[in-house]
Amino acid sequence: MRMYDIIAKKRDGGELNKQEIDWFISEYTADNIPDYQASALCMAIFFNGMSEKETALLTAAMRDSGDKVDLSCFGGKTADKHSTGGVGDKTTLIVAPVVASLGGYVAKMSGRGLGHTGGTVDKLESIKGFKTTLSSDEFLNQVKNIGIAVIGQSGNLAPADKKLYALRDVTATVNSIPLIASSIMSKKLAAGTDNIVLDVKVGSGAFMKNLDDAKDLAQAMVDIGYNCGKKVSALITNMDVPLGYAIGNALEVKEAAAVLKGNINSDLAKVCIALASNIISLVKGIDINQSELQVKKALCDGLAYNKFLEWITAQGGDVSVFDDLENFVKAEYNVEVFSEADGYITKMDAEKLGIVSVMLGGGRATKDDEIDFKAGLVLAHKTGDLVKKGEKIATLYSNTVKDMSKAVALFNQAIVVGEQKPLDAPLVYEVVTKDV
Ligand code: URA
Repeated sequence: MRMYDIIAKKRDGGELNKQEIDWFISEYTADNIPDYQASALCMAIFFNGMSEKETALLTAAMRDSGDKVDLSCFGGKTADKHSTGGVGDKTTLIVAPVVASLGGYVAKMSGRGLGHTGGTVDKLESIKGFKTTLSSDEFLNQVKNIGIAVIGQSGNLAPADKKLYALRDVTATVNSIPLIASSIMSKKLAAGTDNIVLDVKVGSGAFMKNLDDAKDLAQAMVDIGYNCGKKVSALITNMDVPLGYAIGNALEVKEAAAVLKGNINSDLAKVCIALASNIISLVKGIDINQSELQVKKALCDGLAYNKFLEWITAQGGDVSVFDDLENFVKAEYNVEVFSEADGYITKMDAEKLGIVSVMLGGGRATKDDEIDFKAGLVLAHKTGDLVKKGEKIATLYSNTVKDMSKAVALFNQAIVVGEQKPLDAPLVYEVVTKDV
């Protein structure tokens, strides 16, 4: 087989077959295909797309390019939630213990923050003592014993994706729906989970900026999952505004703990309830309304919070911080930001607010930066709220004053106050499932 012929076939709009896709992935992973040819193929895919069958074949080939986790001992009850990335997105901290408290097995590998978006591993590491690295025996035993373990990406899962993603990143070929869908799903499938709910974020703080692209991406990932024998659904959720009020690691853990303690009326809680209900519906094969009742009950009667404490303790985390959350999140400096006008908040640019958090120390500007776990911001108001000139709209927290004034300036750019109350935007736009 020749790489030249595969590139030419895709360039001319042809459909690649299993032999061609498998050959490309195994030879590229083994460093036998140069990056210039792999990037030419990615560009041909970028322009000509891939059929549902090709996308499933590419995903399966990348899934099989490295280690795979075997979760078959859990009898089809393993569950995972994957977010495409957002600002203030602390849903894993809530959804994972809810699902485990209701009988799902959560054996999850999560990521760190990327760019303006946060990552679950960083949030968990803000809890003193919490270990995000476990051996594979420790990981599986913990899931067997308490139904939940969450660690950072480990082992050699989907190495073909790792290589291709780095190449796409520098060749302007990230933003292709079949390439994103196969990249995300190859890792999810290698991680072995049976039931997957995808949280596809759309809006200013998300990777997908418009609803049509988000729907296409969601459908592509759901189709891949079913073609590979998994149960998958996808929720398209709003990321025009940060999720919840806190952005920054310890601040977000604090907000998540409040939901787990039964505060279920917030936007954050509503999105978590929708995600967890869809997972439980897949795991137990029950109707979504029944599932939602179980999820709300687990949040209100302490079942989910107790599972959260059990989980954090099992991974070495100090749960005494949850007795006094103020100490846990107290940064050395804080600055309040006030509205510059009377009116409605008509816009909060979620991406800019994510960058504000990074500037305060809550994220990494470069791969090797250390995170200041207590840094970030807490909003006092969100889009749609009526504010008066001089009224507080947020508090910014940091342990360094270095970038505080720049952070305040960017915060002010992110907020627009106008006369017209904006229309209420849905929290969950749509649930995408496979018609089977
Ligand atoms: N996240 C991934 O894992 N892969 C992509 O291609 C884009 C986002």
